[in-house]
Amino acid sequence: MYLTRWTFVGVCLGLMVWAQPGPPLRSLAEARKIQIGAAVEPSLLLQEPQYAQVLAREFNLVVAENVMKWGALQTARGEYNFAAADLLLNFAQRNRQAVRGHTLVWHQQLPRWMYGSFTSAEMEAILSDHIRTVVGRYRGQIAYWDVVNEAIGDDARLRSTPFDVLPGYLEKAFRLARAADPSAKLFYNDYGAEGLGAKSDAIYALLKELRARGVPVDGVGFQVHVDSSFSPRQVRMAENLERFAQLGLEIHITEMDVLLSSTGSRAERLERQAQVYREVLQVCLRQPRCKVFTLWGFTDAHSWRGASEPLIFDVDYQPKPAYFALQRTLQQP
Ligand code: G3I
Repeated sequence: MYLTRWTFVGVCLGLMVWAQPGPPLRSLAEARKIQIGAAVEPSLLLQEPQYAQVLAREFNLVVAENVMKWGALQTARGEYNFAAADLLLNFAQRNRQAVRGHTLVWHQQLPRWMYGSFTSAEMEAILSDHIRTVVGRYRGQIAYWDVVNEAIGDDARLRSTPFDVLPGYLEKAFRLARAADPSAKLFYNDYGAEGLGAKSDAIYALLKELRARGVPVDGVGFQVHVDSSFSPRQVRMAENLERFAQLGLEIHITEMDVLLSSTGSRAERLERQAQVYREVLQVCLRQPRCKVFTLWGFTDAHSWRGASEPLIFDVDYQPKPAYFALQRTLQQP
C-alpha cells in the first residue's frame, strides 16, 4: 500500500515535469540580461485561460498588437477609450512584465476622422493632444514607446501620411513623447530593414540626423516579419545592427514571426523555421546593445498571418521546435 502510494506520487511528479517545456524563456532571458516579449490581444486574456497562462509563464515583456494604436484609442476626436489598454497594463503589472507602447505615429490603423483636411496648426494640436494624453496616462509604466512606426516606405523614401501637413512631425512626436514621459525609452520601429540595403540605409540616415540634432530617439526596432528562407548572414544583419549601435541606439527585435515554408516534410519545415528563430536570437545576443527580443504573438492560434503557423507555440499551445531553439540558444554561453 505504502509503496503503491509513493509510486503513484512519483508517476504524477514525473508527468508534471514531462508536461513542462523546461525552464521558461523569461527566466533564461533574464539570466542573459535581455527581455523576451510577445504581442498581445487583451480580449484573449479573458477568453482563453491558456493564452494568459503561457504569456505569463514565458514572457517578461508585452506589447499591444492593436489596442494602443491611434484608431483603437481615439476613435472620435478628443474621445479616448483606454479599457483594453488598461487591461493589458494590469496584466503586465500582476505578472511583472515590462510594457512596450505601440504606436504613436503610423500611417495605418488611424481613425477615419484623421483623414479630414487639417491645417498645420490643427495637426500640431491633434498630435500634441494624442501624445500627451496617451503617453501621459501611462507615465512611468511603459518602458519603451514605438513613437514612430514604418515612416520609411519600401522605396526608401518617407511615406506620405495625414501627418505630412505638419512639417517636422517626426521630430515633434519624439519631443512630445519625451516631455510626456521622461522615463520611457523612445523608438523608431520598422520592417524590412533587418539587413543592409536601401531601406535600412534610409532609416540609418534618418536616425543619424535626428540624433545629431538632439531629437530624443533612444533606440531602433527591427520587426523581423520574415519567411523560412530568411538568413541573417545573407542579409548581413549583424553588420547592420552594429552600425545602428554605433549611433548610440539601443536595438530591439520587435515583431518577429517566421512563415512556415510550403515544401519539405513537416519535421523539416518546422526545423527550418526553428533555425531562423535561432539565428536571429543569436545575432541579438551577440550584439551588446540588443536588449529585447519580441515576437508578434506567440501561438499559431492567433496570428495576423492567419494559418501559416509563424509562431513558437502551436494552435494547442504546445511548444514547437522554434520554442526549443530559443530555449537552447538562451542557455548557450
Ligand atoms: O477592430 C476590428 C474589429 O472591430 C473587428 O471585429 C475585426 C473583425 O475582422 O476587425 C478588427 O480590426 C482588425 C484589427 O487587426 C484588430 O483585429 C483589422 O481589420 C486588421 O486590419 C488589423 O490588423 C492588424 C494590422 O497590424 C493592421 O495593419 C494586425 O492584427 C496586427 O498584427 C498588425 O500589426 C502590425 C504592426 O502594428 C506594425 N508592423 C507590422 C504588423 C503586421 O502587419
